Amino acid sequence: MTLPAGVGRVLYTEEQVAARVLEIAAEIDKKYQGREIKLIGVLKGSVFFLTALARALNVPVKIDFLAISSFSGASGALQGMVRIAKDLDDPIQDEDVLLIEDIVDTGLTTRYLLQTLAGRGPRSLGICTLLDRHVRRLVQVPVEFRCFEIPDRFVVGCGLDYRQLYRNLGCIAVMNPDKQ
Ligand code: IMP
Ligand code: MG
Repeated sequence: MTLPAGVGRVLYTEEQVAARVLEIAAEIDKKYQGREIKLIGVLKGSVFFLTALARALNVPVKIDFLAISSFSGASGALQGMVRIAKDLDDPIQDEDVLLIEDIVDTGLTTRYLLQTLAGRGPRSLGICTLLDRHVRRLVQVPVEFRCFEIPDRFVVGCGLDYRQLYRNLGCIAVMNPDKQ
C-alpha cells in the first residue's frame, strides 16, 4: 500500500508492529495463564490492535467494546471529560479485564475509563496499549502492557486516525496535515 500525501515518516512498519504484538501477546499469556480474559476495546481506534492481539493470544478470550465521545479541543474544566456513547454489552463483574487502547496520550481518557470500569467490580483490571506517548501525560495511569513508546508527534495507522482517515494503514506513521 503506498502512503497517501500527508502521511510522513514511518515510525514502525507493518512487520515491526506484527512482531511486537506477538511479543506482548506472549507476556499477556504468561501473566493470565490458567485464566480467561476479557479484552475491552475503545471504539474505534483500538479495533485493529485488539483483533491482532486477540488472534495472537493462547488464553481464552472474550471481547467487548465501548465507544466514547470526548469534548475535543476543550480546555479548562472540560478538558479530558469523556462520555460513554456506547456501553459494554455485558457486565464485567469478577472477570479479568484488559482495557485495550490505541494510544495513551494525556492519560485523561484512560483514567476516566479505568475509574468507570473499576466501579463495576472486575476481578482485575489492566491496561494494554499499542502506543504510549508518555511525554504528554497529564495524569498517571498504570500502563502494564505497551507495544511502543512514541515521540511527541501526531501519528496515524493501525487504528489511529486523522479526521477519521488512515486507520487502515498497516504501519504507524507521522501525520503532516500541511502536506495533505
Ligand atoms: P488522551 O485522553 O489524551 O490519552 O487521548 C487519547 C485519545 O486521543 C486516543 O484514544 C486517540 O483517539 C486520540 N489521539 C491521541 N493522540 C493521537 C495521535 O497521535 N493520533 C491519532 N489519535 C490520537
Ligand atoms: Mg481519534
